[in-house]
Amino acid sequence: SQVQDMSSVKTNAAKDMAFAFDIDGVLVHGDRVIPEGRRVLEILNGDNELGIKIPHIFLTNGSGKPESDRCAQLSKILNSPISTEQFIQSHTPMSALAEYYHTVLVVGGEKYKCREVAQQYGFKDIIVPNDIFAADPTISPLKEFFTAEQRATSNPRDFSKVKINAILVFSDSRDYATDLQIIMDLLQSEDGVLGTRAKDPVSHRIPIYFSQGDLLCPTEHPTPRMSQGTFRIALEAIYKQITGVELERVVYGKPELATYRYADEVMASWMEVIHNEERLPKNVYMIGDNPQSDIIGGNMYGWKTCLVRTGVYQGEGNDKENPANFGVFDNVLQAVQAALRKEL
Ligand code: G3P
Ligand code: MG
Repeated sequence: SQVQDMSSVKTNAAKDMAFAFDIDGVLVHGDRVIPEGRRVLEILNGDNELGIKIPHIFLTNGSGKPESDRCAQLSKILNSPISTEQFIQSHTPMSALAEYYHTVLVVGGEKYKCREVAQQYGFKDIIVPNDIFAADPTISPLKEFFTAEQRATSNPRDFSKVKINAILVFSDSRDYATDLQIIMDLLQSEDGVLGTRAKDPVSHRIPIYFSQGDLLCPTEHPTPRMSQGTFRIALEAIYKQITGVELERVVYGKPELATYRYADEVMASWMEVIHNEERLPKNVYMIGDNPQSDIIGGNMYGWKTCLVRTGVYQGEGNDKENPANFGVFDNVLQAVQAALRKEL
C-alpha cells in the first residue's frame, strides 16, 4: 500500500544519511552533559518514527585517553552506548605511524595515559618527557613539580644512546616549559639523539606531528580555554627565533583532510555493523561548535554542516569566515531534527 511504500522510502533515506558529531561543545562540556545530546542519541539509536538506527560517528579533536576509556566515559555521561568502532579522536589516525617510527617521544595528556594510547597503537619504544627529566633533571630548570608518582612511573635511561625517530604531540602539554624545552632540544639534535647538536638545522631534524590544531577548546570554564594549537604556535615561534628557519610539521585532526578521509572509512564500516552494508551514506551532516575546525573541514569535504551555539561559537547568525552550509542552531537537538525533517 501507499503507506508501506512511503515508509520504505523513508527507511532508505534514513540509511542514506549519517551524522558526524563533534563532542566538546556539542554533546558535552568537559564531563558535563549538554542535555539535548542525550535525546539526540536516543533518537538516532532507534527511538524515531521509523524505529531504525540512523548511522552516526563521533569525530572529535579530543585526545589523551585510549579510545575505549573515552567511549566508556562518554557512554555514561550521554546515557547511550558509544562504540570504539564509531569513534575517532584526534590521535586515532596516528596509529598508522607506528609502522614507520620505532622510538617516539609522546607528548601531552594526563597521568601516562598517552603512553598507554601509543602502546595500543603498536608503537614499540615509547618515551615521554618525564622519562627524560627523570634521567637528567637539569634538562628543564624551570620545572618546579615532579611528584613521587611521576618519578615512580618514569623510565629513565641513558638518552645519549637513544635515537628518537619522531615527536608525536598526542594531547595538551601539562608542562609547557619542560615539553617545549625537550622538543626544542630534539629538533636541533642530530637525528634525535639528546645532547647532540646538528650543524644544519634542517637535514638532520626529526619529524614532529600534532594530533590537532584547535586554538580554543570549550570546557567547564565559562569561556573557551587554550588548546593544542596554542602550544604549537608557541613552539613554532620559539623554533623560528632560535634557528632562523620555519618548522615543518604535520597536523592531524579536524579540519585536516586526512582526518575526514579516515572518518569515511569508519563511517563505511560502521554502516556494515548497523545495516550490514559497507558503504558511505550520501548525505553526511557534521554538527560542530567550532567554525575553524568542524565547519570549515566539513564544508571542504562536501558534508552538510550545522553550527551550534553551545560551545566555541556564540555569535548571532552564521559565522562570517566559515559559514555552516546547513545552518546555525541553538543546540544539537535542533540541528538533528532539522536534518531529519530535510531527509525523511
Ligand atoms: O580542542 C580540543 C578538543 O577538546 C575539542 O574537541 O570534540 O570539540 O572536537 P571536539
Ligand atoms: Mg567542539
